[in-house]
Amino acid sequence: MPAIQSLPAQTPAARQGNGLRLENISKHFSASADTRLQVLDNVQLDIAPGEFITIVGASGCGKSTLLRLILGLDEEFDGRILLDEKPIKGTGLERGIVFQDHRLFPWLTVEQNVAVGLKNAPLTPAQKRDTVREHIHLVGLQDFTESYPHQISGGMAQRVAIARGLVNRPSVLLLDEPFGALDALTRTRLQRELQNIWQHEKITMVHVTHDVDEAVYLGDRVVVMQPHPGRIRRIVDIDLPQPRNRSDARFIALRDDVLSDFAELS
Ligand SMILES: Nc1ncnc2c1ncn2[C@@H]1O[C@H](COP(=O)(O)OP(=O)(O)OP(=O)(O)O)[C@@H](O)[C@H]1O
Ligand SMILES: [Mg+2]
Repeated sequence: MPAIQSLPAQTPAARQGNGLRLENISKHFSASADTRLQVLDNVQLDIAPGEFITIVGASGCGKSTLLRLILGLDEEFDGRILLDEKPIKGTGLERGIVFQDHRLFPWLTVEQNVAVGLKNAPLTPAQKRDTVREHIHLVGLQDFTESYPHQISGGMAQRVAIARGLVNRPSVLLLDEPFGALDALTRTRLQRELQNIWQHEKITMVHVTHDVDEAVYLGDRVVVMQPHPGRIRRIVDIDLPQPRNRSDARFIALRDDVLSDFAELS
């Protein structure tokens, strides 16, 4: 798999603003005509512009539901979601998403798949082409622009999905277990690359993972959720310099600390 290029430093413009505020978010689903399932209970979180938040928690504790609400796919919830102090309304170009399965169109090339992300962008065709190429370069796939999804590896496909999620230059990128389906080596490599991209793009990341090691490796803060109903159990500051060293005693201590929550929950 090709490596991503060394990236030139960018101005920190994208770090301005007030960030993302989740204010008393509660969410119910109708399980049947007369039963309501509470999935999220009073989730409150202030995310600073440019912060990398990772979310871990048992299956079913509402992590994907929370991302769907932030993305604006589901507007039926209690509470408010504010981006730079303005309530979000539906989906918007300032919020991108990457899912666990890459969701690329098999009949489109890498370049065309990334361009899908720009469908609604107010850009000329030439600006779109340049932006697509820039983002393909960002994820190190410049030699694969004409390839189709079946011609590239799972890790490369996930990098295409990341490029597509970033191509609108969102201020927030939401990632729902983006590396969950990858082998351990590829996952470790993409974690490093994602961190590199984050430092380059200076955007806010909200990254859901089942992997506590990944959460501590990437996050400025790790949000630990617990189920029935889904809520924040605690938030752990990861006050370690980036890039992190997994064999550092402080890293191991923080990882074990977060893991201990899971032992208590199971
Ligand atoms: N559209 C829906 N209708 C009814 N219930 C739903 C719906 N979507 C999710 N749920 C329920 O909400 C709860 C939370 O689901 P969600 O997918 O957000 O969990 P999760 O934390 O992302 O889990 P996982 O780690 O397995 O991905 C689950 O009990 C699920 O069954
Ligand atoms: Mg999920």
